[in-house]
Amino acid sequence: MYNTPMLKDGSLKDKVIVVTGGGTGLGRAMGSYFLKLGAKLVISSRKIDVLRKAADEMVAENGSEVLPVQCDVRNYDEVENMLKQAVKHFGKVDVLLNNAAGNFICPTERLSNRAFDTVIDIVLKGTSNCTLAFGKHWIATKQTNSTILNIVTTYSWTGSSFVVPSAAAKAGVLAITRSLAVEWAKYGIRSNAIAPGPFPTKGAWDRLLPGNIKDKFELEKNVPLKRVGEMQELANIAAYLVSDYSAYVNGEVITIDGGEWLKGAGQMNFLESLTQENWDELQKIMMQKKNESSE
Ligand code: COA
Repeated sequence: MYNTPMLKDGSLKDKVIVVTGGGTGLGRAMGSYFLKLGAKLVISSRKIDVLRKAADEMVAENGSEVLPVQCDVRNYDEVENMLKQAVKHFGKVDVLLNNAAGNFICPTERLSNRAFDTVIDIVLKGTSNCTLAFGKHWIATKQTNSTILNIVTTYSWTGSSFVVPSAAAKAGVLAITRSLAVEWAKYGIRSNAIAPGPFPTKGAWDRLLPGNIKDKFELEKNVPLKRVGEMQELANIAAYLVSDYSAYVNGEVITIDGGEWLKGAGQMNFLESLTQENWDELQKIMMQKKNESSE
């Protein structure tokens, strides 16, 4: 059931969608579903070989067209070139999915200033570079009905230990999302975000939980729904947010994490570990106290 595609065939017909970091992981999963729904795709990353292989496989699986473009989102010139290639090939771009990211776990005091910069550069500057280039283009060409979709995380608003550069950068991306939802609405540009919880992919999870650290933590345990996410569930939300069905959704961030972040937030959530017997016992004590105070 979790793997059931949500939207009608043809929901993204003729939309041209640029997915940064689109050759692997979550970007590829979302892109593949967009293709199935009739979109044309541009996928970008630093590694052209990976992109070309992914593009061939995606076309073989889903049909339609995929243009691989090498682009390090940290460099504005390369971003402008990606936009130029996309417009040259497809005539227009309708959607920018800022998905490219970089992250690793590390106690903050062990980070070099360059390490901090690297993550900020990929996540925050990469997103601002793409957003600026595509936004300026849409505004200059008076194209309306354009959409920016950003991938953030639930620690964009809570912060998180051991991924501080990423938390700072993702908080910035969320601020860009909400700010431009208002500022660029007059140009017909919508801005939304998705905050995914645990959706294990090789690239991200080997970095975030390297070595045997994976075996030490059962990720599912921190999720009230007791499971990790399926790619199709994320792809469904992404496809909805870039489709015209969400035409009135602007400035929203949709969390899809099985309730994970709220479990960490609710002050009394630790009571989850109590058994039915513990609760029977506690209720007995509470009722006794109540009766005593009313006597
Ligand atoms: N812990 C501490 N410092 C680290 C690190 C780690 N795990 N990985 C890299 N660094 C430091 C490097 O030592 C270097 O700093 P220094 O010059 O002071 O030594 C700095 O970060 C840049 O590293 P470098 O490998 O040159 O950067 P890069 O641009 O080639 O790679 C990364 C960027 C580090 C984010 C790399 O992991 C990457 O390319 N990831 C891509 C995809 C990704 O992370 N996906 C997951 C998304 S959740």
